[in-house]
Amino acid sequence: MLERLMVRVGRSLPRSLKDRVRSAAQRILVPVPAPVPKGEIEPRHLIYTYGTDRLAVCYLATEQSDVSLIQKCVELLRPQKPIPVVCHAPGLSTLFNHPMIEVVTYEEFARRKIPVAVLVNDSRESEVELRCRDLWRSGAQFAIYDAYQPSDIVSEQKLRRYRDVTLHLEASTLFPTIYSNWDYINILVKEISDRPLDVLDMFAGSGVIGFCLRRETAIRSIAFCDVNYWAVRSMRRTMTADPALRGDIWLSEGLTGVPRSASFDLIVGNPPHADVDLSGPRVLPGADPRWEAHHLFFRDAHKHLRPGGRILFTESASAKIHEGFYTSLTARYPQYRLGRYIEQPNHVCFVMEILKA
Ligand SMILES: C[S@@+](CC[C@H](N)C(=O)[O-])C[C@H]1O[C@@H](n2cnc3c(N)ncnc32)[C@H](O)[C@@H]1O
Repeated sequence: MLERLMVRVGRSLPRSLKDRVRSAAQRILVPVPAPVPKGEIEPRHLIYTYGTDRLAVCYLATEQSDVSLIQKCVELLRPQKPIPVVCHAPGLSTLFNHPMIEVVTYEEFARRKIPVAVLVNDSRESEVELRCRDLWRSGAQFAIYDAYQPSDIVSEQKLRRYRDVTLHLEASTLFPTIYSNWDYINILVKEISDRPLDVLDMFAGSGVIGFCLRRETAIRSIAFCDVNYWAVRSMRRTMTADPALRGDIWLSEGLTGVPRSASFDLIVGNPPHADVDLSGPRVLPGADPRWEAHHLFFRDAHKHLRPGGRILFTESASAKIHEGFYTSLTARYPQYRLGRYIEQPNHVCFVMEILKA
């Protein structure tokens, strides 16, 4: 009742006031760390690792101070072959003086199909985004990694491109990662193939998984569920900007907010991973103490799965979720049987298949 009243009052406010109220609310209510100030970023922050591997990246230099940071980072990396660097400001290219750095254009970076661009500081971020958007429009697929973000959580509203989708991220939602998302989405795309399934993206966050499936597969429908209000807002904004991605979105803890009549052929998701009592913004969406979020979900999921329906979750191998949760799942919930444990070589995550018994 009170919430509805607030929404009604909120709608009648002028836009400028609305924006101010919203950013004040985010500052007070959303405990996210600010970007690292310039001068405090260290070369090691620029190293992007992937499982046990260091991933092929391209660095994006926008300022003079980026030059020495990138050069020192390359010293740490000791690469076998030169690492590409795009100079957003053309004058910077003459300042690089390292045999293992190759200055390339934005177009060349995209042509090489490098999956990650590491942005060193936030001063020209929107210009870089605009430049990248041209490449995205031409079909190039890569993600930007903000080395200056001390957290995997977005600290202010941002647009981020991931595969073939432009995500509108609100503060407190998670940046989609290469770790738990990219290969997982590849696996899902293969699993779904051309089947017209009704799919739920559970623990959806920015909605990155569901939106990519909507774009890349022949699924009949996509729906989303997350307990975080700002995640729901992000997904709504993404859909408003790109109506082809539309689907139901439920603000819901577990499946408690999903209508009883909603049923799916497939539930996908990247649940909070670790059974530890973590606190602090960096880990907010990542921890699941005592597997409470998992239990709450599995308590109800079978009611929303059609006969033959299944769940495919990406889970962290290092958090020992298989040993800590899935080995006893079917004893506790006889409505399920365990399917495949899909391992990914040199990867921090595995994919768990759970079938409706
Ligand atoms: C690891 S993040 C994954 C986000 C997104 N799917 C991705 O891959 O980037 C986990 C998400 O689960 C949500 N979450 C945590 N506990 C939940 C619960 N009990 N019910 C619904 N959502 C929950 C968090 O808000 C967060 O967005």
